[in-house]
Amino acid sequence: QADVFTYDPGFTSTASCESAITFIDGDKGELLYRGYPIDQLAEKSNYLEVCYLLLHGELPDKATLDDFIYRVTRHTMVHEQMHNFFRGFRRDSHPMATMVGVVGAMSAFYHDSLDISDPWQREVASMRLIAKLPTIAAMAYKYSMGQPFVYPRNDLSYAENFLNMCFSVPAEPYKIEPALAKAMDRIFTLHADHEQNASTSTVRLAGSSGANPFACIAAGIACLWGPAHGGANQACLEMLREIGTVDQIPEYIKRAKDKDDPFRLMGFGHRVYKNFDPRAKVMKESADEVLELLGIEDNETLKVAKELERIALEDEYFVSKKLYPNVDFYSGIILEAMGFPTSMFTPIFALSRTVGWISQWKEMIEDPTNKIGRPRQLYTGATARDYVDVDKR
Ligand code: SDX
Repeated sequence: QADVFTYDPGFTSTASCESAITFIDGDKGELLYRGYPIDQLAEKSNYLEVCYLLLHGELPDKATLDDFIYRVTRHTMVHEQMHNFFRGFRRDSHPMATMVGVVGAMSAFYHDSLDISDPWQREVASMRLIAKLPTIAAMAYKYSMGQPFVYPRNDLSYAENFLNMCFSVPAEPYKIEPALAKAMDRIFTLHADHEQNASTSTVRLAGSSGANPFACIAAGIACLWGPAHGGANQACLEMLREIGTVDQIPEYIKRAKDKDDPFRLMGFGHRVYKNFDPRAKVMKESADEVLELLGIEDNETLKVAKELERIALEDEYFVSKKLYPNVDFYSGIILEAMGFPTSMFTPIFALSRTVGWISQWKEMIEDPTNKIGRPRQLYTGATARDYVDVDKR
């Protein structure tokens, strides 16, 4: 703890809350989940173990981890009646729209029986959200494809289950590729939590009013959707496709530097990191592995991404503004290679981040002094004045 508290970013006065969950050193490009560096967790751990760590603060022993995995696995199915919610959406709805609606509706199925003032029932709510978000995300995908929903299976790992629910069809069961499932699991881990970002602050603020955890997570999903936040992974891949080939890059670099041009290099820059986003480094290595595994290592989009990164990191503008690739820069390349449409990139970010959101919600609920509560403002409007009748204006 001492090490962390000696770090003075100089903005403690604007800190919205205290938290012991995730630590970011933006200047060093360091990210710790409960003190463990993200690159070590991405290499040596797995997503459900990281879920336990974020929720409870310590790495579990084998028996505790097995029990946690057992309980999450057996909460993966959603109430059969929830299938009906999807049919109210147009088939071409963005899966994030569906997820906001259906996760919010979980309040009607799973909250009424819960008393969140009871620690065990907070654990049950957390478990249900971690377990059911992949199922709901996969259902949103299947619905958009006009394909039948695929039920979760208890014999598969968390990542294998998600891939199977997305890509299995009655005519041809999905062939689980362990290395691909490992890459999927790693993507979940890299997105699991990230201190007080916009969507986490949204969840904390919603939770500070006493709103139920399912409604709070739906609020977080809505906030994450924005292209400046979680929607950047979809926007980034679409940008890389628009650039198309390496020789087009200088034109886009020029546009990104033009103050009069609203174009931004998606997947670049960060409110906190003024050095490399450590998640982007792991993601870049994973992109090479996955594309090689799938035999598409000469992928044009990956070539454009790597050349764009190389040029931007040498360019005075980006260097002076400390703009580096962030978590969204390479993730879309991996997800597209796995077979996901760009519209599923942010839903995957949302299901991964659910454990971070619910861990931060739990931390806030368990420490009444730690609520964001009710932010104030600096009023810049008109001073007090009397009403004027419309015929005298
Ligand atoms: C996520 O908060 C989190 O932790 C979020 C997240 C998480 O895990 O929850 O990390 C996930 O949201 C990552 C960010 C994904 N967004 C994008 O990739 C969208 C593109 N990037 C941006 O729009 C932008 O970088 C932000 C919104 C992320 C940060 O914007 P800021 O706060 O303006 O960044 P900055 O202050 O460091 O910018 C410094 C300068 C500014 O110019 P000046 O006003 O000083 O002249 O660089 C410019 C910015 O205008 N700039 C960019 C740029 N990002 C910043 N110029 C071109 N392209 C970019 N991508």
